[in-house]
Amino acid sequence: MNQPLNTGSTYGGSSVGAGETHAATGPDTDVIATSAVSPEETRALVEPAMPDLSVFGPDVIAKAQVQIATYPESRSALLPMLHLVQSVEGYVSQAGIQFCAQQLELSNAEVSAVATFYTMYKRKPCGEHLVSVCTNTLCAVLGGDAIYERLQKHLSNDGSPLKHEDTSGTPGETGSITLEHAECLAACDLGPVLQVNYEFYDNQTPESAVELVDALRRGEKPAPTRGAPLTDLRTVELELAGFYPEDDAEFRGRIDGPSAAVETLRGAQLAADRGWTAPAMPEKAPELPEVEKK
Ligand code: FES
Repeated sequence: MNQPLNTGSTYGGSSVGAGETHAATGPDTDVIATSAVSPEETRALVEPAMPDLSVFGPDVIAKAQVQIATYPESRSALLPMLHLVQSVEGYVSQAGIQFCAQQLELSNAEVSAVATFYTMYKRKPCGEHLVSVCTNTLCAVLGGDAIYERLQKHLSNDGSPLKHEDTSGTPGETGSITLEHAECLAACDLGPVLQVNYEFYDNQTPESAVELVDALRRGEKPAPTRGAPLTDLRTVELELAGFYPEDDAEFRGRIDGPSAAVETLRGAQLAADRGWTAPAMPEKAPELPEVEKK
């Protein structure tokens, strides 16, 4: 039996005016019954409210235009533009989707399809830091699963373990942490690993991971094992969007941290010690086929 719904809309191809009440009498008259609603109320129910884009001010629009000018096809700027949106709000909100769609002359559905495909784009507000624990096979058996489980409980807000992409504390505030489990982070030789804002912390244990997140919650920024010094998620998102600090010397100093580990280079070192070399590359690479223009 159909329950009356307060929509005033149509369903199953049959139209019903506001204030009418129908009961379904068969497949061709599968009409949701209605009660009195105004056309404005009906529109508000079936059309999502236009999000407020004021958070994306002139400087964000200018950056978006720089991104668009980088590519022959404007839609190619979508991935970096989603990072730009995340640098502003800490996630990709409905407003962020609308902003990208407007800038790139795409539909909201096209932007949403991309934003929901990649795990690097977050659909809930994130903390100051994003902690990603590798729970892929090798790290998992070396202790990644235990690290994740320990952090889920340790970072709990209310006694129940955090779930994937839940935040400990208030999103955006100093010391807040979003926790996620991640697939292979391409550092299997140093597992179990975790990342904070995509910077590596190698050879972790549940205890060292707890010490790390406690330091983050106190507002500290412990040095990663390799790579650049730690900042915060929104700063990293801006860098992923292609924008770096004006003080280039300071920035270069920050990213010129050690990136290789002894374990990572062991194979190359072994080959060098034994005089092994890779086969020579052909003089001329084969021509790539023409790609049909879309
Ligand atoms: S399995 Fe964890 S880095 Fe590869």
